[in-house]
Amino acid sequence: MTNHFPKDFLWGAATSAYQVEGAWDEDGKGKSVQDVKVLPENTSDFKVAADHYHHMKEDIALFKELGLKAYRFSIAWTRVIPDGDGEINPKGLQFYSDLIDECLKHGIEPVVTVFHFDLPAALDEKGGWKNRETIDAFVRYCGILFEHFGDRVKYWLTINEQNMMVLAGAAVGTGDRSFKELFQENHHMLLAQAMVMKEYHDKNYNGMIGPAPNIALAYPETDHPEDMRAAQNFNALRNWLFLDAAVYGVYNHQVMTMLKAINAEPEITDEDLAIMKSGTCDFIAFNYYNTGTVKASPVASTASEKNDQQKGMNLPGFFQGVKNEHLSVTEFGWEIDPEGFRTTANEIYSRYHLPMIVTENGLGGRDELTEDGKIHDAYRISYLRDHIQTMNQAIGDGAEIIGYCPWSAIDLISTHEGIRKRYGFIYVNRSDFDMKDLKRYKKDSFAWYQKVIATNGADLD
Ligand code: BG6
Repeated sequence: MTNHFPKDFLWGAATSAYQVEGAWDEDGKGKSVQDVKVLPENTSDFKVAADHYHHMKEDIALFKELGLKAYRFSIAWTRVIPDGDGEINPKGLQFYSDLIDECLKHGIEPVVTVFHFDLPAALDEKGGWKNRETIDAFVRYCGILFEHFGDRVKYWLTINEQNMMVLAGAAVGTGDRSFKELFQENHHMLLAQAMVMKEYHDKNYNGMIGPAPNIALAYPETDHPEDMRAAQNFNALRNWLFLDAAVYGVYNHQVMTMLKAINAEPEITDEDLAIMKSGTCDFIAFNYYNTGTVKASPVASTASEKNDQQKGMNLPGFFQGVKNEHLSVTEFGWEIDPEGFRTTANEIYSRYHLPMIVTENGLGGRDELTEDGKIHDAYRISYLRDHIQTMNQAIGDGAEIIGYCPWSAIDLISTHEGIRKRYGFIYVNRSDFDMKDLKRYKKDSFAWYQKVIATNGADLD
């Protein structure tokens, strides 16, 4: 197969603060919604995580050995501003300043998410994203980050998976509210994002800013025209709502019709519409795990409960999620669809014509550490190989993909399934309730990805 990866392709890997750092209440850090949420039974909390906060230099040295050209991580809002809108915590800023310097020292480009599911608990108590004051707090917080790190960070991501927070909030631990409330919060996040993008551009920082939704195409179950329309509805709500807003500063028309029909239309002022238009993105970051499949949904059916982000939704009259019989699934039940990765990337590029960075993609599995200190994760290699192959084809098709940051650089705590569901190239020796020695071990996928990077994607064997 022809190798289409450009010479300066950003081979990377990703993490998020609350899932990897630990040190949940150290050095002045405030509590986030992730620190106070009620967890599913028998599932680890995020207090220690991979203890990256205390292993930062060792971890970045391992990333260097892996050959990473980019490292996507997130900044914990509560480390920088413990209550979200009050005093700045200098130790929090220092940690991220050191992390950025450590990456740069090793020739690794930092790709920074400012908000990844970890809203300060103090803001949540005041209504969270329902409260317009959270918009101001977010804009101030981002301004502080740009001011301190804007000279060193060239790739900024605003909000991780805003679409999953809205459509599967319960699954990612960010609450379970009515559609009406969720889409009002969504509107406030879109405003906050636009204001931050505007500020980033107004101050002429030397870099790019973009959103980081989870984008994956939905297929119609059959070639029945009504199934096709159902897929179009689902794609509009799950995908284009978030990218139309970030790229063009507008609301997707089909989404507005759906929201009216389910009585979830947000309150939007004329000034809000102008704000949305005033701040748009330079590039598109997107997370891709797998596609969805839908069929037409009779008006009289029942709306689905919001659950695991991979389980189908049902919006009566618009679409109903179904299983795709052509796809295999991971041991955690997530469908695997590398071909859908190519289709999704091409679709995004056709609609928006902006450079793209893949900021998540990967396989969660129950890895085992052998007695001789190995982790044989052939299933992960196979998943990543298939996706890198179709990404190469998408670039060959003409889609401008400039970087790839699989999930995850190192083992971390899954959003709701503890550390038994691992994603990393590096194994962290702990279980859900036994912290063991937290020692790092290189998995088989580490050596494999190292070779992929060294050959710029030419050798995937
Ligand atoms: C994405 C999130 O939804 O998927 C990550 O941005 C998350 O935070 C990843 O960890 C995998 O999901 P999970 O539920 O297996 O951790």
